[in-house]
Amino acid sequence: MTLTTLRTLDEIRSTCRGVDGQLGFVPTMGAIHAGHQSLVRAARQECDVVAASIFVNPLQFGDDEDLDAYPRREAEDAVLLAAAGADLLLLIDKDEMYPPDFATTITQSETLVTTLEGECRPGHFEGVLTVVAKLFGLVGPCRAFFGRKDYQQTVVVRRMVADLNLPVHVEVCPTVREPDGLAMSSRNAYLGDDQRAAALSLVGALRAAEQAFRAGERSAPAIEAAMETILRAGTDEPEYACLVDPLDMSRRTAARAGDVAVVAARVGPARLIDNHSLGDTIPGLPARP
Ligand code: PAJ
Repeated sequence: MTLTTLRTLDEIRSTCRGVDGQLGFVPTMGAIHAGHQSLVRAARQECDVVAASIFVNPLQFGDDEDLDAYPRREAEDAVLLAAAGADLLLLIDKDEMYPPDFATTITQSETLVTTLEGECRPGHFEGVLTVVAKLFGLVGPCRAFFGRKDYQQTVVVRRMVADLNLPVHVEVCPTVREPDGLAMSSRNAYLGDDQRAAALSLVGALRAAEQAFRAGERSAPAIEAAMETILRAGTDEPEYACLVDPLDMSRRTAARAGDVAVVAARVGPARLIDNHSLGDTIPGLPARP
């Protein structure tokens, strides 16, 4: 199938509403890589029609963040999305998305949006939730596909969908990594060669957590200390290295299989995040029997 590009809200609404069968949706901010493509492929397998959006959402960037520098390459992105099986590409104009009288934003009262990423990036999740709710309203998908790479984002989006009874099923797909373990990210494009090597300390910290857990360590502070040592040695500015509950992102005191190790750090101009579920396979360690 060929990729059809839709640009206006009216066009998007009428085309998506007219879809015959199950509509799958993959929201992105572009700079498409194999991680995004894996979401489109998953949607392709499960749905009749697949829509992907590219919208660099100003609401989820802080004033001192990389909104202006964020890579924009629509033509290449369209080719990669089509290759993965997308039917519709939604390219929404910022002024149509947020007209001057735009007045509504979505937030969450739990600590979900104020810890970890929410603490480091105040207002970030309000921006994410608002744009995701708007996109769901416009597109009306049966299923929406998100990456586990942004673990906290999947938790807050699922919470919103449940709380607001949104008629969409949220699917979470595995993190796609480079052969050496670095999680794919649009922000990896900011890294020079040395920084690219230093960025491996994020997955290195996650590996250290898994290694400690496999060796029998159950103290969350001890596992966090092991992660932090690796992160501090490799990156310019570690932001957090924590072990959290997979459902509500609260800090753990005792580690259990399925707990999520989450890390964030600055490497040169890039702010990178990654996570790992204790007990799962991770590149660089043998799979568990
Ligand atoms: P973006 O960073 O472009 O990511 C779009 C989707 O791709 C997200 O669901 C993200 O988790 C997923 N993704 C990114 N890297 C991945 C990887 N290595 N493996 C698997 N999936 C990966 O996340 C956003 O955009 C925005 O916050 C958005 C949801 C579009 C709202 O603006």
